[in-house]
Amino acid sequence: MKILGFESSCDETGVALVCSKRGVIGQALHSQIDLHRAYGGVVPELASRDHIRRLIPLMESALSQANCSLDDIDAFAYTAGPGLAGALLTGAAFAKSLAFALGKPAWPVHHLEGHLLSPLLAQPAPAFPFVALLVSGGHTQLMDVRGVGDYTLLGETVDDAAGEAFDKTAKLLGLPYPGGPALAALAAEGHADAFDLPRPKLRSADLDFSFSGLKTAVLTQVTKLTNGQGHTALDPTTRCDLAASTQAAIVDVLVEKSLRAVELTGRERLVVAGGVGANRLLRERLTQALAARGQHAYYPPVALCTDNGAMIAWAALMRHQAGLTPVQAEPLSIEVKARWPLEQLNNPTA
Ligand code: KG4
Ligand code: ZN
Repeated sequence: MKILGFESSCDETGVALVCSKRGVIGQALHSQIDLHRAYGGVVPELASRDHIRRLIPLMESALSQANCSLDDIDAFAYTAGPGLAGALLTGAAFAKSLAFALGKPAWPVHHLEGHLLSPLLAQPAPAFPFVALLVSGGHTQLMDVRGVGDYTLLGETVDDAAGEAFDKTAKLLGLPYPGGPALAALAAEGHADAFDLPRPKLRSADLDFSFSGLKTAVLTQVTKLTNGQGHTALDPTTRCDLAASTQAAIVDVLVEKSLRAVELTGRERLVVAGGVGANRLLRERLTQALAARGQHAYYPPVALCTDNGAMIAWAALMRHQAGLTPVQAEPLSIEVKARWPLEQLNNPTA
């Protein structure tokens, strides 16, 4: 079976072709980072317009890599939420129109389920059950994953997401959007113990996170160090130290809570997914901590950590193989959900 998947929930347009026998056989991605950089964040209307421009050429590229045509596709899949409503609608309308014209099904996919199941594309793939740490620009969640479509939310951020914490503090240090990778690169040159930054909720009994205090703490430091002049007046060494201390504060909390989630659920495996999962320090710390307990951490390949079409086609395939594919009651209705709790997938009719 071949599924063509479309991702358009935020600032990446991704199209990929997944085959049930051979895995990902074609994929193409366009990042809108350059488009949004001047604004310091994603501009929803610009994102939607750009998705519309990119979908067809990216689809043609993914199909030609796989040496396939649209007639070879058995089903289409698209991100139906959560995300920016207008951006989601571009991919949804495109996938549903193709499906309708070709008489094939179009399956809606939950963006976070795409992230959650993407580590199963890697070798070795983790077996169910596992704890998943979902860390992206919009979400920070710990999930107990018992199988496809069988999830329990263990904890989540009460304010900013981990990626948002990276992006906002990076901006305070004068780094371009998206700040996560840039801050991580700067941090590699600095000392993580140079500044004592807050680690909110580190010792709280729950599995929730809070990151909004961190950006205030970094802002306070920048203001103090520069007499209110801002990042342009920071000396390069201090800037690196501040980046390293910030990254350490975020990673400390993510590691501590993930280990606690693994302990509380009694799971043997932790799967890390989402854009922040590309962070090297986070990977090193989790791998070491779990190995010391005889447990295992799994990560998707770095290219699959951030948004892409492969994770959407793959999640659709896994749901189909698990007998969870929705009935195509309304082939012409196009619905997306800007907000959509992942646990609703456990019982979609509820
Ligand atoms: O999953 P993703 O591509 O998009 C969302 O669904 O949000 O995640 C993007 C987030 C951004 O906040 C970005 O700064 C962060 O992932 N990110 C990183 C790294 N690479 C991407 N954060 C820290 N370290 C990285 N290496
Ligand atoms: Zn994402």
